[in-house]
Amino acid sequence: MSNELKETGVEMTDNGVVIAESREPLPAGVKLPIYMDNHATTQMDPRVLEAMLPFFGNVFGNAASRNHAFGWEAEKAVETAREQVAKLLHCTAKEIIFTSGATESNNLAIKGIAEMYRERGNHIITQVTEHKAVLDTCKKLEKAGYRVTYLPVQANGLIDIEDLRRAMDEKTILVSIMYANNEIGVIQPVAEIGKLCHEKGVIFHTDGVQAIGKIPVNVQTDNIDVMSLTAHKIYGPKGVGALYVRRRNPRVQISEQINGGGHERGMRSGTLNVPGIVGLGAACEIAGAEMKVEAERLQELRDYLKAKFEKALDYVHVNGDMEHHLPGNLNVSFVYVEGESLLMGINDIAVSSGSACTSATLEPSYVLKALGLGDDVAHSSIRFGLGRFNTKAEVDYVSDKLIDVVSKLRELSPLYEMVKEGIDLTKIEWAAH
Ligand SMILES: Cc1ncc(COP(=O)(O)O)c(C=O)c1O
Repeated sequence: MSNELKETGVEMTDNGVVIAESREPLPAGVKLPIYMDNHATTQMDPRVLEAMLPFFGNVFGNAASRNHAFGWEAEKAVETAREQVAKLLHCTAKEIIFTSGATESNNLAIKGIAEMYRERGNHIITQVTEHKAVLDTCKKLEKAGYRVTYLPVQANGLIDIEDLRRAMDEKTILVSIMYANNEIGVIQPVAEIGKLCHEKGVIFHTDGVQAIGKIPVNVQTDNIDVMSLTAHKIYGPKGVGALYVRRRNPRVQISEQINGGGHERGMRSGTLNVPGIVGLGAACEIAGAEMKVEAERLQELRDYLKAKFEKALDYVHVNGDMEHHLPGNLNVSFVYVEGESLLMGINDIAVSSGSACTSATLEPSYVLKALGLGDDVAHSSIRFGLGRFNTKAEVDYVSDKLIDVVSKLRELSPLYEMVKEGIDLTKIEWAAH
């Protein structure tokens, strides 16, 4: 159905959510709703599913069963996956510990190191734009008597390496700085951070979730000691991840956080999720083989999306340094547009907004606030996460729709009108109510 145009109507999903309101004919190749939220999770690659399927069927052994063929077969699959993960990160298979995902990996890394090196010191350094799995873990450790420094970021989202140097003292045992940010896509100067940590004898952990499989990551040249990753951000299954733990130069030790049968070299007990681990391995192998071509394609689409916005609209504010940036990420503030109305206007497109729904309130994203954005600008921000299955036709549909909705909302915006008339909003004294 190459050039055929398809009529769409209001459609309901099983749980009653309206997914498409448009009665306009859709361009060829576009099916609603469009998924462009690949930092939240990714659709599983059919090749990954295929690799996993036998392990839901008759290959069901426990990888820890050492005395029969069912166990050996499961163990063999797990060890193949361990090799596949290690190859992507440029480490040895023995340095990979399987977990239930990156939340667990981050907890295991930070709490495990804090506990193991407690006698050496109690100071941990992280930064304000980390994922909650790092921030909340650090907050918990503060309650247990650790001292945590939360480094600020610059307006472009990157930390200043000199801030890190200044924050280090003789009690510092761990630095945890993410590789790439999940909201604004900026890539931190990881190799430099790792180098500084090694000079000072401090362990360097990085949350590599958003970087792995998207850009080349090499734990040797990046000077990384410990790194968290998860399968569901790289077209693998949910609920499985890994932690890289360096074994030489320096040998890092981690105190286990889940006790039990001593699996994963005693660092993480619990029967291994064999199908999930096989899926993670397959996802890593595919990512390694296709990363270069995929990254080029996604960056091209991302730049095309950005250029379309900048051509059609004014007051488009791109968030995060664009030079050190994930290929598939674009975070844009459509200034002078009311955030919630914007989201309502694009309900057939799955993207993330700069607002986090916390209980009943709509709070601006703490990551965008850390860049110095005001609440209103943060609320008017949208994160586009392009991924393996997005097409140019989808990017065209999404950009045209956004441009249309933003233009219409601005027609109704008194602030936008005032700005267009040359009034400086910062100089206005608003009447108090
Ligand atoms: C940067 C980052 N770290 C950690 C996580 C948590 O990963 P998981 O969903 O595997 O627990 C996510 C995913 O939301 C993430 O984006």
